Amino acid sequence: MKFAFFDTKPYDKPAFEKYGKEYGIKFKFFETKLNEDTVGLAKGFDGVCAFVNDTVNENVIEHLHQMGVSVIALRCAGFNNVDVKAAYGKIHVLRVPAYSPYAVAEHAMALLLTSIRRIHKAYIRSKEFNFSLAGLTGFDLFGKTVGVVGTGRIGRVFIDICRGFGMNVLAYDKFPSKELEAMENVRYTTMEQLLEKSDIISLHCPLTEETYHLIDEEAVDKCKKGVILINTSRGALVNADALLAGIKSRKIGAACLDVYEEEAEWFFEDNSGHIMEDDTLARLISMPNVIVTSHQAFLTEEALSNIAETTVKNISKHFKEGKCKNEICYRCGKVEDCNKGKCF
Ligand code: NAI
Repeated sequence: MKFAFFDTKPYDKPAFEKYGKEYGIKFKFFETKLNEDTVGLAKGFDGVCAFVNDTVNENVIEHLHQMGVSVIALRCAGFNNVDVKAAYGKIHVLRVPAYSPYAVAEHAMALLLTSIRRIHKAYIRSKEFNFSLAGLTGFDLFGKTVGVVGTGRIGRVFIDICRGFGMNVLAYDKFPSKELEAMENVRYTTMEQLLEKSDIISLHCPLTEETYHLIDEEAVDKCKKGVILINTSRGALVNADALLAGIKSRKIGAACLDVYEEEAEWFFEDNSGHIMEDDTLARLISMPNVIVTSHQAFLTEEALSNIAETTVKNISKHFKEGKCKNEICYRCGKVEDCNKGKCF
């Protein structure tokens, strides 16, 4: 089988080449993103392998269908960039629902520790032989209250890590987990209480209509003064202007961001030689108490390997068995374990 692999980065290749060889799938790596201008590159391939910023709209799907491409294998969990309705009945859409909750949860803690112990400042100082400690005072995490929004795969790992630090956990989820509820130092509460009582808030819920701008001006108002906000989930959970205002007014003590509302335009690429046109992002980055990473929480060896292995297994299962549990089904609305083969 031959797959056209779009938006290739150097770190994608080794694992996909390894698993592709094992399962007899040949990948042709294209650096360009998949969109209406580049879809022609997929001619002659059995499928395409796409990522979060590829454009898989109705036109692209129609073009792929006309060329006889029968599978879109997403190498990510989210599929908001794919018109699954247009794909229905024409092209199968497969995804990787989970690859390493540890990668993301550990990155969230790395950001938090960096921020509160001023590691980002200390690193730059000692590089210049400035060994002064002035302004580097941090605080202990032990005994602090962390509010965790979304207690799914990643949220749970983050809770475990926080419990290891001796922190108290306040949790909020639309569907609370009985298992977590029974744990020492973990208590489910309302979103309002979580905002009011937490010293640190970490977001681990998906972006939906309901969670869009979950942290807005009103939410910031309800927070404790000096709260630390961590977002490793999706940028639009936070209204970036409200966050900036909260930082300027000293209500928010620090922000640790791996995602940003308008990241698609900037993240994943080297923009160091360009004028930063997003004033909100530029202002956030200029703050001494804001740490921004470029949607890198997933980027561990283990996660990359799991992504490649699951993607390749999805493709193999689809072609060998005619169905795959990681297929996204438009008709039954399920994203996992739907009655494959019948729904399509
Ligand atoms: P998951 O599906 O296991 O957990 C999500 C949890 O959020 C569930 O418990 C669900 O009940 C809860 N939830 C849904 N709607 C909610 C609402 N309105 N309010 C409160 N809770 C709600 O997902 P997982 O694997 O833990 O991933 C969480 C998020 O992390 C993903 O949606 C994705 O946006 C983000 N992510 C970020 C990555 C990065 O590199 N920065 C990589 C992978 C995921």
